[in-house]
Amino acid sequence: MKTIKTTLTCVLALCFAACTHSPAPADRSMEDRVESLLSQMTTDEKIGQMNQISPWGEPTQIAESVRRGEVGSILNVVDPVALNALQQVAVEESRLKIPLITGRDVIHGFKTIFPVPLGQAASFNPQLVEESARIAAIEASSMGVSWTFAPMIDIARDPRWGRMAESLGEDTYLTSVLGVAMIRGFQGNDLSNPSSIAACPKHFVGYGAAEGGRDYASTFIPERTLRNVYLPPFEASVKAGAATFMTSFNDNDGVPSTGNRFILDQVLRKEWGFDGFVVSDWASVAEMIAHGFSKDGKEAVEKAVNAGVDMEMVSGLYVGHIKELLKEGKISMAIIDNAVRRILRIKFRLGLFDRPYVDTAAPSVLYAPEHLQKAKEAAIQSAILLKNEGGILPLADKVRTIAVVGPMADAPHDQLGTWVFDGDKNYTRTPLKTLQEEYGDRIRILHAPGTAYSRDKQTSGLPAAVAIARQADVVLAFVGEEAILSGEAHSLANLDLQGAQGELIAAVAQTGTPVVTVVMAGRPLTIEREAAASQAVLYNFHPGTMGGPAIIDLLFGKAVPGGKLPVTFPRTSGQIPIYYSHNNTGRPWQGNETLLDGIPQEAGQTSPGNTSFYLDAGNDPLYPFGYGLSYTTFEYTNLSLSSARIKASDELSVTFDIANTGKRDAVEVAQLYVQDCFGSVTRPVKELKRFMRIPLKAGEKKTVSFTLPAEELAFYNINMEKTVEPGEFNLWVGTNSREGLQAKFVIE
Ligand code: GLC
Repeated sequence: MKTIKTTLTCVLALCFAACTHSPAPADRSMEDRVESLLSQMTTDEKIGQMNQISPWGEPTQIAESVRRGEVGSILNVVDPVALNALQQVAVEESRLKIPLITGRDVIHGFKTIFPVPLGQAASFNPQLVEESARIAAIEASSMGVSWTFAPMIDIARDPRWGRMAESLGEDTYLTSVLGVAMIRGFQGNDLSNPSSIAACPKHFVGYGAAEGGRDYASTFIPERTLRNVYLPPFEASVKAGAATFMTSFNDNDGVPSTGNRFILDQVLRKEWGFDGFVVSDWASVAEMIAHGFSKDGKEAVEKAVNAGVDMEMVSGLYVGHIKELLKEGKISMAIIDNAVRRILRIKFRLGLFDRPYVDTAAPSVLYAPEHLQKAKEAAIQSAILLKNEGGILPLADKVRTIAVVGPMADAPHDQLGTWVFDGDKNYTRTPLKTLQEEYGDRIRILHAPGTAYSRDKQTSGLPAAVAIARQADVVLAFVGEEAILSGEAHSLANLDLQGAQGELIAAVAQTGTPVVTVVMAGRPLTIEREAAASQAVLYNFHPGTMGGPAIIDLLFGKAVPGGKLPVTFPRTSGQIPIYYSHNNTGRPWQGNETLLDGIPQEAGQTSPGNTSFYLDAGNDPLYPFGYGLSYTTFEYTNLSLSSARIKASDELSVTFDIANTGKRDAVEVAQLYVQDCFGSVTRPVKELKRFMRIPLKAGEKKTVSFTLPAEELAFYNINMEKTVEPGEFNLWVGTNSREGLQAKFVIE
C-alpha cells in the first residue's frame, strides 16, 4: 500500500507542478503558437505530423503528400537542395505551412567520422565527447539535417551484441555522463541555432539486454533493474533537455517498448515530465504484429498511440488506421493532440518555422581541418593500451625496419566502423599510409597484409608476412573486425579474431621479432592468445577518419595512451554476460578455486570449490572495466574521507594523492567506486560513481578530491522506492575497477 501511496503522491505532485508551472514568456509565446496552430489543424493534418517517411530514391516523389500535409518528417535525405525543395512545398504550398523535421543517423560523425561511441566512451572525457557531437551537428546541419537519432545510451553488457559498438559501454554512470555530453553537443546551447540538431536518446529501453546478445531478441529486465541500471541514462537525458526519444525494438517481459505504456507514459511523462516527442524505431509499430503483441496493423497502431509513441517511423500504419480508431473510440483526440503538440513544440524550438531552409550558399564545413584535428584527438584519447611488455612502446628511435602486417593496416572503409552513412572512406587516414608518409624517409617499412580482410581464411599470404617479420626490428600487426561485423543485426556467437588473423599473429610471433598488435574492432574480442603472443596490445574501437595518425602518434610516443575500457573483456564468449558491477551471489568466486586442468581424476564432488565460477575459464575477465595502461606509471596514496559517518543528506569528500612516477607526462583517469555492503535488496559489488581525467607531468604529484552526495547512492529498494539506505559502504579510488585504495564509511 505504501508503494501505491508513494506513487500516487508523486503523480499528484507532478500534476500540481504541471498545472502551476508557468513557462517563461518566451516559452509561453511558443506554447501559444503551438496551441494556435493545433487548433487550426484537421484530423488528417494532425495524423500527417505523426507520420515520418524515408523517401527512397527520388525525394520529389513525396512532394504531393507533403503538399497535402500528410508528412511531418522525413529521414535519410541529405541533399540540401532536395531538402529545401521539399521544405518549400511544406512551408509555402501546404495549407498550414508546417515545416518538416529531417532526421538522419549521425551516430559518431557526419562526414568527419569520430571513433564509434564505444571508443569515445574509452576516453572517459565528457568534454571531448561533447565537442565531437558538436562537430557532427555542425556538419550535418549544414546539409539540412535537423534531427539525429543519437545518442544511443543502451547499457551494453554482452559483446556478442553488435550494437555494443554504438553504446557508451556497460556502466550506468559513465553512460549517463557521456550521453548527456553528446546531447549537449548535438543540441548546443540553443536548439534554434542553425548548427543545432535535435538529439534522440535511444533505444528506450533495455535493448542491450537482448537474450543471448542476439539483436532484436527479447529482454527480461524486472522493474527494479530497469530503474537501477537501464533507465538512469534516459532520465539524465530528459534533465539535459533532450528533444526527442526513440523506442526500442525489444519486448521486455512480453511487452514491446513501442507499445509499453509503463515506460512511455508512467515513467517518461508522469515521473520525468518529458515534453518532447517519441518516435518509433524504424518499423517497430508494425513489428508488434510479428512480436505477437498485435493481431494486425490496426491493433498495433492502437497500442502504440495509446502507449505514447507520437511519431511513427516508416511503417505507414498511423495514416492508415488512426482515423478509424478515433471513430471507434479506441484512440482519443486528446492523445492525438498531445502527440502533435509535442511534435510542433520541437519544431518551434528548433526554429524550423522561422528558418526552414538550409543555407546552400554557405561555405562547406565538411572535413574542416579543425574537425579532422578533433577527430584525431578523439581517436588518440579513445585508444586503450592493454599490454606493453618491457616498454616496447613507444617505439624507440633505434627502430630501423618495421614489418606491417594484418588486414586492418590499410582498411579505409572498415576503420570507420559501423553506422557510417555519410562518411567517405577516401578521407580516411590509415595507419599504413600515415606510417609511410611520416616515417618512410627514415625507417624501412615493409608491408605484407597476410590476410586480405578480417574474415579471410586464406593462409596463402602468411609466408610473405613471416618473411618481412624476419627482416624487421618490430612487427606491427593490425587486426580486428571489418565494420560490417558490428552494429545493428550483427551479433556474433564467437568473439575470436575472424579468419586467419590468429594464425597470422602466431606465425609472425614465431619468428622471434617483437610483435605490437593493434586491434580495430566494434566490441571486445577474445584475444587472450594473440595478446600472449604480443609484446604490446593497443585497442581501438573503430577509430574513424583519423585513426591512422592517432595510432601512429601513439606508437611513436608523440601521444601517450590514456584510454580506459568502458566494457569488460571476456576471456571466452562462454563467460558472457560478464561485467564488473555484478551482484555478489551467496557463493562468490574467490579466485582460488581449482580450475579444469588442476582437478585430479576421481576428485571429490566439492573439491574444485562450491562457488560461482567456470571450471574451464574461471570468472576473471581478460581485462576489467576501467583498465588501461600508459607510457608512465601512477601511484595513488593517502586516501581520506571527510567523515567516516555521514547522513543521507550529507556530501562525502574523498581526497587522495596521485603521482606520476614515470618519465612521461600523461593523463590518468582516476575512478571512484562504491559498494553498498548490504541492503533491502542485493546490491552490486561495485559501482562507478565518479571519474576524473588528471594531467600529471613526469614526477608531478597532486592532491585531488571527489565530492559525492550521499543521495547519489540511492537505489530502488525492496518497496520500489528510490532511497538511500543506512548502512556500511566500501569505497575505492584507483586506476580501474579491480585495483585501488579502499576506505569504509557508514550512512546513518
Ligand atoms: C534502425 C535503428 C535505429 C535507427 C533507425 C533509423 O533500425 O535501430 O537505431 O536510428 O533504424 O535508421
